[in-house]
Amino acid sequence: MTFLQFPEGFQWGAATASYQIEGAFDEDDRGLSIWDTFAHQPGRVQNGETGDVACDHYHRYKDDVELMASLGLQTYRFSSSWARVLPFGSGAVNEKGVAFYSRLVDELLEHGIQPAVTLFHWDLPQALQDLGGWMNRDTAERFAEYAALMYERLGDRVTRWITLNEPLVFVEFGHRAGGMPPGLRSHDATAKAIHHAMLAHGRAVQVFRQGGYQGEIGITNANTSYEPADDSPEALSATELARDFGTRVYHGPVYGRGYPASVLKYYAERGAGFPIQAGDMELIAQPTDFLGVNLYSRARIEPDDGRGVGYRNARPTLPLLPMGYEAAPDSLGDFVRWVSKEYDRPKIYITENGVCDNTEPGPDGTIDDHVRVELLRGFLAGLHGAMQDGADVRAYYQWSLMDNFEWAFGYSKRFGMVYTDFATQARIPKRSAAFFSDLIARNGVDA
Ligand code: BGC
Repeated sequence: MTFLQFPEGFQWGAATASYQIEGAFDEDDRGLSIWDTFAHQPGRVQNGETGDVACDHYHRYKDDVELMASLGLQTYRFSSSWARVLPFGSGAVNEKGVAFYSRLVDELLEHGIQPAVTLFHWDLPQALQDLGGWMNRDTAERFAEYAALMYERLGDRVTRWITLNEPLVFVEFGHRAGGMPPGLRSHDATAKAIHHAMLAHGRAVQVFRQGGYQGEIGITNANTSYEPADDSPEALSATELARDFGTRVYHGPVYGRGYPASVLKYYAERGAGFPIQAGDMELIAQPTDFLGVNLYSRARIEPDDGRGVGYRNARPTLPLLPMGYEAAPDSLGDFVRWVSKEYDRPKIYITENGVCDNTEPGPDGTIDDHVRVELLRGFLAGLHGAMQDGADVRAYYQWSLMDNFEWAFGYSKRFGMVYTDFATQARIPKRSAAFFSDLIARNGVDA
């Protein structure tokens, strides 16, 4: 093994999201979100599980921050629940909700951990969904008001803001595939939701600049490292299409390149236009300070003329993880190299990278999640290589601090470096936690 040293000042952290860990879904005047509604409908989430309690982080946040400090985390990315601070999505502020995030931020700072706040990690207030949700242009406006409230209340202490987490996922799974709320399967809804989500991002950046707040702001996108299944010209062009539909549609507008023509054409042919108004694309393209990269795996792409999008995933060749995708250690470095080149070397934070490894405690109570450890080693070696090649990566957040509510999979998929015993809420650091802690202490990894 060789020791790979990361640059001085590189930051190591972990990430979570409100609905996945907080619980306390009906406490202190929190409003309902579309995830509360969805999870409470029979058949939507595996085993009928919900985020009602989740990791009970709302009540245990102090212990959780203590845990982060014991691991040596330097930064922590969490999301604020829109419905907790604005129960109806706009209008009356729930001071108890704001106070929770304020206490959390104070606790982090007291432990020397830099907070990074994601304003939207999928839990849209139900009250806004009732008005059309992301299909309604007004939602972008309501998001700007909510963002302004958060900057106003936390901006004296929080200097790293992420507008949206993975529009690809909440837009497409929610409006095209239907496996997430609001559970629609409509091209029209999807086209509208894509544009309004990007508009919301742009407005939140605009409000941040206009308010003169300190710090930095960016967006986090979901990514897959797309690789041609073979070196035929057909596979290469199918891979470019996959990049259009999976990557460029959400990055392009942010970097002033607009939506890919292939994507616009696909939706137009299905009678679904993007509701773009004059000035929208300029708004969305306002400069951001960093790009948030989430990455978990790769996909091998081959042409598929039978399907409208013109490409499909080829047969996997690497071992599969419980999520159904490949354990692909090189995918992080490969994607970072690609995205850095594609968008002229933006400053990058890896806002999520991690491994689903469902290892349970052994007879002695320890949790030897060696699949996670080895894959993380591979991911980080790849990242290190991409940085050597010039990518400007400044921080890495592991998903996740602890096992939590994995959306439609309920609690059946474990991503934590800390084990959550959902019956007792005990937190038990796994072998990967020790690995990560050691890596932070040395600012590098043996790979
Ligand atoms: C999401 C997380 C999720 C993780 C693991 C990301 O797409 O942002 O909320 O838990 O992947 O599947």
